[in-house]
Amino acid sequence: MPTGGPINSTATTRQHHNLPSELKHQRLKAWVDEIAALTAAADIHWCDGSQAEYDRLCNQLVAVGTMKKLNPELRPRSFLATSDPGDVARVEDRTYICSQRKEDAGPTNNWMAPAEMRELLQTGRPDGTPALFRGAMKGRTLYVVPFSMGPLGSHISHIGVELTDSAYVVVSMRTMTRMGRAVIDLLGADGEFVPCVHSVGAPLEAGQKDVPWPCNKTKYIVHYPETREIWSYGSGYGGNALLGKKCFALRIASTMGRRAADADGLGWLAEHMLILGVTNPAGRKYHVAAAFPSACGKTNFSMLVPPAGYAGWKVTTIGDDIAWIKPGTDGRLYAINPEAGYFGVAPGTNHKTNPNCMDSLKSDVVFTNVALTDDGDVWWEGMTDTPPAHLIDWQGKDWTPEIARETGVDGKPRPAAHPNARFTVAAGNNPVLDPEWDNAAGVAIDAFIFGGRRSTTVPLVTQARTWVEGVYMAATMGSETTAAAAGQQGVVRRDPFAMLPFAGYNMADHFQHWLDIGNKLSASGAKLPQIFCVNWFRKGADGKFVWPGYGDNMRALEWMLGRVDGSAGGEDNVFGVSPRYDDLRWDGLNFTRQQFASVTSIDKAAWKQELVLHAQLFKQLEYHLPKELPATMARIEERLAG
Ligand code: GTP
Ligand code: SPV
Ligand code: MN
Repeated sequence: MPTGGPINSTATTRQHHNLPSELKHQRLKAWVDEIAALTAAADIHWCDGSQAEYDRLCNQLVAVGTMKKLNPELRPRSFLATSDPGDVARVEDRTYICSQRKEDAGPTNNWMAPAEMRELLQTGRPDGTPALFRGAMKGRTLYVVPFSMGPLGSHISHIGVELTDSAYVVVSMRTMTRMGRAVIDLLGADGEFVPCVHSVGAPLEAGQKDVPWPCNKTKYIVHYPETREIWSYGSGYGGNALLGKKCFALRIASTMGRRAADADGLGWLAEHMLILGVTNPAGRKYHVAAAFPSACGKTNFSMLVPPAGYAGWKVTTIGDDIAWIKPGTDGRLYAINPEAGYFGVAPGTNHKTNPNCMDSLKSDVVFTNVALTDDGDVWWEGMTDTPPAHLIDWQGKDWTPEIARETGVDGKPRPAAHPNARFTVAAGNNPVLDPEWDNAAGVAIDAFIFGGRRSTTVPLVTQARTWVEGVYMAATMGSETTAAAAGQQGVVRRDPFAMLPFAGYNMADHFQHWLDIGNKLSASGAKLPQIFCVNWFRKGADGKFVWPGYGDNMRALEWMLGRVDGSAGGEDNVFGVSPRYDDLRWDGLNFTRQQFASVTSIDKAAWKQELVLHAQLFKQLEYHLPKELPATMARIEERLAG
């Protein structure tokens, strides 16, 4: 195997700091040494997950300028991190699924053969091009971050170890996962873990001054599903760098869940879904899992405050982004939230739209790419109706409403916070955290919801009549792209299951996996969850959202629960069952029949056009596409023609 570079000269001086004295896992230790040698890390720190460690790293991040400490009287123990302007979101075009066979990654994923990718990242090319990771951590500390996705020791949970040269990633992983010494203990002498290697790709030469947000223009977010490995290079931001989240809990885990079906006949699901509990005035509690694409309302829906007129109803959060879902012995589907914190969208969040979220952000938060107020607090677009008179924007520049107007583009003022600005906060801060959120057994799901961001065409809420019809809705979902990923925004694209950027295997096989689980569970006599499709985002002629959204989404949720119980009315439409005006409850809201019609109408011409897009997706996913899906489409076409 080519080594691709000189033997690292600092190897002899490199030290392990905070190495657990009781460490029994020789394979883990050997792997850490191997990666440290490859990357030429200056030294190694084994994270214990303690508050003292977190505080020390935060202070260090403040000292190097990555973060600013916020005013402790206004925002105790909180920080503002600002990133490099070129490193602000997930990079989908730099994200790879490196399975042995291209067709196992499928046509919706970037693919490279594992051997070729390993040359690029780890070993160097035969032509002498050095590997990207060789020497990548020079001058930096390699942090060993042991973490559990899901409650420690749960039969649904899995362990990962991230090796990273970013202290910002370490403090974020401590909030987002169960991280630290207890995980090392659980691993014992030879426990399984998913190895995750992360470098910002910015080695420091001796005496070279660091920058506040080191990163590299070249980025690779790489997954080897067969060997369950993650390698991430060049970015320090969000899902690119916090490898427990999208890389592990969705891309690798979705593959693990499907593979598990080979062993037990059912397998499990890793989905881009929030999980909520909803209790009605009679005290009956339901559990709902909902998949909306990035920046399309999961965090908000999971913390929903029922509107006036809904006295006695309560919504509680189990998770806001990811669900791992496993069939139980009773044939029901049980979901856990593998995460332990929220990495949520800041812009648009305020006391009216999401008071529970605002309350979660009172202390112990790391904000990234929001604006700084003159009194040392944070602000973002949509937090208040009137912006402060002066701010320091996310790029460290002076910002006033006037400067914003003068320096805006396309007639829109220049935002003070980046549109994908986020907060990182522990689930424990959430005032409506569900008491079951940490339950190792998970919660039994009553309904699945799929929803995109669509200005037109897709109605407010529709119930699938069958599991297959529900899988069809999920598979063909479209959504307007958002700032959560680099690239063009506001363009409609298919985002099957809200998993387009997160599936670790062929999307057509994912559809089949859902159909198989449904078939097998119903054959065993189990009652399957109902499936619904929603759209909060239809716009009127004035370009404004017609549906009030947020807390008022409770009205649609109540109808869905009524359909689960069989108590709510509705009428058949071309692709499912939808509520009539009088099937929803309007207490406390003035929403006219006309407005209702404008968010629920089904425009036949628009739907014929929509079906062309479904057909294009099916053409793209032709290989392994379950025949039930084009058959369902044919029935919709017939009804549309009729
Ligand atoms: P990721 O963390 O990227 O996966 O996003 P998410 O699905 O959790 O989205 P989130 O709840 O953070 O919402 C993203 C944006 O959509 C925010 O600006 C919200 O204010 C806005 N939003 C959420 N729910 C609604 C709604 O019901 N109506 C409208 N109009 N906007 C909403
Ligand atoms: C998303 O983009 O869906 C997120 C944010 O939840 S990130 O973790 O960056 O992927
Ligand atoms: Mn997400």
